[in-house]
Amino acid sequence: MITETNTAIDRDTAVQNPLGLKRIHHVEFYVGNAKQAEFYYRKAFGFSRAAYSGLETGNRETTSYLLKQNNVNFVLTTPLHPDHPAAEHIKQHGDGVRDIAFQVENADYAFEEAVKRGATAVIEPRDLTDDHGTVRHAAIQTYGDTIHSFISYENGNRASSISRPHVSKGSSNGGSSNGSGNTYTGVFLPGFVEQTVEGEQVGIMIVDHIVGNVELGKMNEWCDFYRDVLGFFRYITFDDKDISTEYSALMSIVMSDGGHNIKFPINEPAESKKGKSQIQEYIDFYRSAGAQHIALLCRDIRITVAKLMENGVEFLTVPDTYYEEMPDRVGPIDEDIESLKKLGILVDRDEEGYLLQIFTKPVEDRPTVFYEILQRKGCKGFGKGNFKALFVSIEEEQRRRGNL
Ligand code: FE2
Repeated sequence: MITETNTAIDRDTAVQNPLGLKRIHHVEFYVGNAKQAEFYYRKAFGFSRAAYSGLETGNRETTSYLLKQNNVNFVLTTPLHPDHPAAEHIKQHGDGVRDIAFQVENADYAFEEAVKRGATAVIEPRDLTDDHGTVRHAAIQTYGDTIHSFISYENGNRASSISRPHVSKGSSNGGSSNGSGNTYTGVFLPGFVEQTVEGEQVGIMIVDHIVGNVELGKMNEWCDFYRDVLGFFRYITFDDKDISTEYSALMSIVMSDGGHNIKFPINEPAESKKGKSQIQEYIDFYRSAGAQHIALLCRDIRITVAKLMENGVEFLTVPDTYYEEMPDRVGPIDEDIESLKKLGILVDRDEEGYLLQIFTKPVEDRPTVFYEILQRKGCKGFGKGNFKALFVSIEEEQRRRGNL
């Protein structure tokens, strides 16, 4: 029996949005070869290149590409010499997520408040400046070598004279507005120049959630971090009874901001009866905690997945019996089941509606980061009804890798 706990108690007691988070500004990956990774995300995932920073723009340290698709911003960064911290990151982790960056009301305030609440400082508040103006930037540590940047576009607020900014309840996820008081007129962030190479978009709209894998026994610690520092609450808890097969057991708590726009599930491996948890496999190869998957929301998943497949993106598959059992499990849906079966799209339902989802295989040679493509039709869950079928599929992949 699968249970889902929505712990409303934390929500009531949590301070709403204490850091003034507005939205996920971008996700930055450190990669071994940003030029080739950019090509992959553009040709396979339908992103467009929108901005560039590198030797030609006076950046002697790194090359970075900004990739955009609707409200999703990915930055791909590669170091230009071995002493840059990105080089060590890649050596340890392979290609992976370095920074889940937030746009905030006031970066100085967000940083000071986060540190006061127990966060570890990574980058003290500073100006990033170019010909188009200035933004404020700071960063704190989260799980593994991953950081959260704070970016604000308002000038004139410095750490010495911080006052609490106007903070809206929850956060705003939509649009690419820089917020009020914007004095920066560049294409992205200082140091980047506009550089457009159009991709053929596949209908990816926005980041729905980003999952972190943490070490055995560390899940509650990191959930407390998101509660105490960022003011998130426990949205859903899954325990090992919900998510276990013979091998691939895991536990998961979904942390959410008050506005339900930013959701960070935190996974830890659970002791399994036989082999290795898929979370442990990730941690062994990533060599620390880190971001496991990024879920990308789309409007019509059948169109998006058909295009991604045509572009060569590889997905996990489930046996045909999954679709035979589906009508009884999820009840009536708008989509024709044959069309979902053809694409390997999974369906799950909660009290409020249903969702359609599919998972890619890892997008690098280490079995680490992968993507989820999903469409929500009222459902606010994460597809717990699909965990079992999915994990059997993941275990098959683990077995082929010799990692079970
Ligand atoms: Fe997910």
